[in-house]
Amino acid sequence: MSKPLLKIEDLWIVCENAPLPYPLLKGINLEIYSGEKVGIVGESGCGKTLTALSILNILPEGIKIEKGKIILFHNQATVSLHSLPQNSPQWLKIRGEIISMIFQEPSVYLNPTLPVGFQIMEPLIYHSRKLTREQQKRKAIEFMGKVGLPHPESLFHRFPHELSGGMKQRVLIAMALILHPKLLIADEPTTALDVTIQANILKLLLSLSQELKMSLLLITHDLSIIAETVDKLYVMYAGEMVEWGKTEDLLKSPLHPYLSSLINALPVLEREKKVLKPLPGTLPDPREKIKGCPFYPRCGKKLAKCKEIPPPSIKIDENHWVKCWMYENP
Ligand SMILES: Nc1ncnc2c1ncn2[C@@H]1O[C@H](COP(=O)(O)OP(=O)(O)OP(=O)(O)O)[C@@H](O)[C@H]1O
Ligand code: SF4
Ligand SMILES: [Mg+2]
Repeated sequence: MSKPLLKIEDLWIVCENAPLPYPLLKGINLEIYSGEKVGIVGESGCGKTLTALSILNILPEGIKIEKGKIILFHNQATVSLHSLPQNSPQWLKIRGEIISMIFQEPSVYLNPTLPVGFQIMEPLIYHSRKLTREQQKRKAIEFMGKVGLPHPESLFHRFPHELSGGMKQRVLIAMALILHPKLLIADEPTTALDVTIQANILKLLLSLSQELKMSLLLITHDLSIIAETVDKLYVMYAGEMVEWGKTEDLLKSPLHPYLSSLINALPVLEREKKVLKPLPGTLPDPREKIKGCPFYPRCGKKLAKCKEIPPPSIKIDENHWVKCWMYENP
């Protein structure tokens, strides 16, 4: 089988901002192939953003990779990302040219004092020095059109506060894509937007990923927005992947009780069944030491050993994995 573009192997992340360090990610594994659309879904606080930030080695102060590997396979080379020195020329090239990221809240990442067109052009100033300023500007305008910004020529000179939330998110997408990255990480790209604009932005991301032959890692707490848009889905709970595989298989035959609860809580299914089944309880505090399955307190299917022994990863078939004792071979 061909190599993936990016592979995360047994990644553990700890928070050291406490008298006793505690894990925030516990043995994450993830693979993204070239051109593949991959989703991570899980409720707020389960570790989705930290997974994304660890890929780009931009974790917050006090949060460290304890063990594991993040490997990039690119142009016949195999690069172990977090063994590269921070701020090395390799990182400068990887961030933006190979892997790019768009963040949840556009206003935070746009400079209020600079015209949006200039901000879209900025990555070209650092990474594409062979282009003249005029060529860089033309490319920025071309990308503004690609992401559906109206009247790009005049919008180029406008400031972020003059744009709507959806337009600002399109500006961020143009900034992230202007260097044609191989992988775009989109962390909750539509959460700050209203529902109709959410659907448009999502459609845009999918069509651009196809047009630019780019892999997409789409992160969200909302299963309904990615259910039918990603090829492969990872379901995350309390810093672990608890079920993963082909999206279609996971949605048709969810195995982990957590994924079943997420599906039962989807509004469209709720209307059909006329039953609302919200998941009771909350995620465990990451400082809490858990011996067995982290989902145990909320699980309606728990077995005797679930409290004491963590479930292993169980392969159901090539396209479907789950971490739950119910699927252990007898
Ligand atoms: N800078 C930090 N210091 C300490 N703990 C942190 C820090 N950032 C995140 N965490 C903790 O790490 C865990 C995972 O956080 P993360 O931001 O990855 O969650 P998330 O799944 O992206 O949630 P959301 O859907 O709300 O964005 C949470 O328990 C959070 O409180
Ligand atoms: S391992 Fe046990 S507690 Fe955990 S999800 Fe499966 S049945 Fe529930
Ligand atoms: Mg997040």
